[in-house]
Amino acid sequence: MLTDAHHRIIDYVRLSVTDRCNLRCTYCMPEQMRFVKSSALLTDAEIITLLETLAAAGISKVRITGGEPFLRPGLIPLLAKIKAIPGIQQIAITTNGVLTRPYIPDLKALDITHVNLSLDTLQPARFQQITRRDQFAAVTQTLDSLLAHQLQVKINVVVMDRVNTDELADFAALTREQPIAVRFIEEMPFNGQGHAFSGINWNFETILDTLREKYTLHKLPDAPHSTALNYHIPGHSGNIGVIPAYSRTFCGTCNRLRISATGSVKTCLYGHDVLNVKDLMRSGEALLPAIQQALHHRAANGFEAERLHTTAPESMSVIGG
Ligand code: 5AD
Ligand code: SF4
Repeated sequence: MLTDAHHRIIDYVRLSVTDRCNLRCTYCMPEQMRFVKSSALLTDAEIITLLETLAAAGISKVRITGGEPFLRPGLIPLLAKIKAIPGIQQIAITTNGVLTRPYIPDLKALDITHVNLSLDTLQPARFQQITRRDQFAAVTQTLDSLLAHQLQVKINVVVMDRVNTDELADFAALTREQPIAVRFIEEMPFNGQGHAFSGINWNFETILDTLREKYTLHKLPDAPHSTALNYHIPGHSGNIGVIPAYSRTFCGTCNRLRISATGSVKTCLYGHDVLNVKDLMRSGEALLPAIQQALHHRAANGFEAERLHTTAPESMSVIGG
């Protein structure tokens, strides 16, 4: 069992499989983004070795992130190999939905039933402004197809002041007919200098207050390590949630480890890279003692981690979300 300095059990890993993206969301990256060479990425074999090692140490859930995961060649065969690792009980994936639709039957066949779709607006012109790309139709087609294939869909909506806060009720309305979970995420500083960031005007409480102007929200019980506070609107098939990603109210129960596409490990989203598993594997060193040691130095929460992290905010596409 992997545990940290604060007696938290770590059983969940978020693994980025590429830093590349086919969108350029302003809250995530600058217009001109430099991506790493393919040779700098963990290979499929390295990913499998890494996850086998972590699974043997008690990791049971893996979330595949990017960049955009479907830009990695051979993603589906890689997911099939991950699925076969003893101890991995759940694989989830976060995608922007641009390339996802043709792979939905494959995801279903692999029993990858939880898909998080990043979508911050329901308006095509605004989608183009936020993502700097004209791919709204592809994303909504993916959403429709995910629902038609009865996958469990969560829509991640980053709430941005003066950008999409007029759409909170429209997003909540999506849950009326469809069994979708819409999760409103507080904006975080990880924009790789895509734009200036000086804190947020819309925190989870502001978001909830705004939704309450139009809807009755009934609190739902949250799963033990949930980062979302979840609510149900009476009569709706889906749910809504708020993720205090900047307010960081959930750090006390954090059960996750983050590994970037190049093998950098973070024990906190707000912290710096603490080791590189690709370098360890390529020099034949043991993974687990290094990971355990990193966890023993883990910050208590995202505020402490942020104080120790002195470099400019990275892009979320590099961190992996
Ligand atoms: N603040 C909040 N959420 C972000 N994401 C990416 N960058 C940021 C940011 N700066 C979200 C994406 C995606 C998830 C992986 O992280 O919308 O859904
Ligand atoms: Fe790509 Fe996701 Fe970043 Fe948008 S938020 S640019 S979809 S990695």
